[in-house]
Amino acid sequence: MLSPTERVFLLPRPFSVMSVRSGKDGALLECLYTRVGAGTMFLEDLGPGDAMRVVGPLGRGFDLSLPGRAVLVGGGRGVAPLVHLASALAGVGRAATALLGARTADLVYGAGRLAGAAVRVSTEDGSEGTRGVVTDLLAGELARGPAAVYACGPHGMLARVAAIAEDAGAPCEVSIEAHMACGTGVCRGCAVGVRDEARPYRMVCSDGPVFDARALRWDTLAEAH
Ligand SMILES: Cc1cc2nc3c(=O)[nH]c(=O)nc-3n(C[C@H](O)[C@H](O)[C@H](O)COP(=O)(O)OP(=O)(O)OC[C@H]3O[C@@H](n4cnc5c(N)ncnc54)[C@H](O)[C@@H]3O)c2cc1C
Ligand code: FES
Repeated sequence: MLSPTERVFLLPRPFSVMSVRSGKDGALLECLYTRVGAGTMFLEDLGPGDAMRVVGPLGRGFDLSLPGRAVLVGGGRGVAPLVHLASALAGVGRAATALLGARTADLVYGAGRLAGAAVRVSTEDGSEGTRGVVTDLLAGELARGPAAVYACGPHGMLARVAAIAEDAGAPCEVSIEAHMACGTGVCRGCAVGVRDEARPYRMVCSDGPVFDARALRWDTLAEAH
């Protein structure tokens, strides 16, 4: 989670780690952000050498051991954790295909950053790749053989990805968003409903943000972006 050092009234905002590089002076974390409100606008005011508060890494990431070919599905800035995932999958020798979707070509991020993955792009206006939404590409991709689906993007897109994966019998993990405050499972501000009567809510910050798509109650998720 990131927050400014000066404006201490601002709750920290969660961001995905896009890449990590370790060097002799520490680690370099790369994030991809789109401007939404105050918590992302402060990032635009920062220059090289400026300080910010960083808390993390937090929560649970993607499971690299799911069986089958990896199919990564990203919507807009949702590509950020998939860049990190593609690099980790390449590191363990797993083949991957990435399907990236956005409204227009200028909103397709990270297509050149998905280590070793075959990349297919869709845009709603047809300005890059196939015209349509990214989920249009998924069913065909899953018909090519056993695969595991990893997705991040707007919750409406993720719900559709989850349904297509379930129909195809493919395991599917999704990285979801919620408003956060503490980031450590204490404030209960980021609760999401799950299909578990014994424990019907999980915390996105500490139990997630990555969840098995079949475990989530999609009706409890707000649209994220
Ligand atoms: C696990 C996780 C990973 C994320 N990774 C990234 C990332 O890599 N890059 C990136 O740009 N953003 C990412 N986000 C979202 C980012 O944290 C929000 O865009 C940010 O909180 C917006 O803050 P803001 O102060 O700019 O906007 P605010 O002023 O807080 O909000 C503006 C409007 O957006 C709504 N909103 C803000 N955040 C959310 C949210 N998370 N879900 C639903 N509605 C929201 C608010 O209700 C409000 O209407 C991630 C969120 C989570 C939970
Ligand atoms: S942000 Fe406080 S419990 Fe998740």
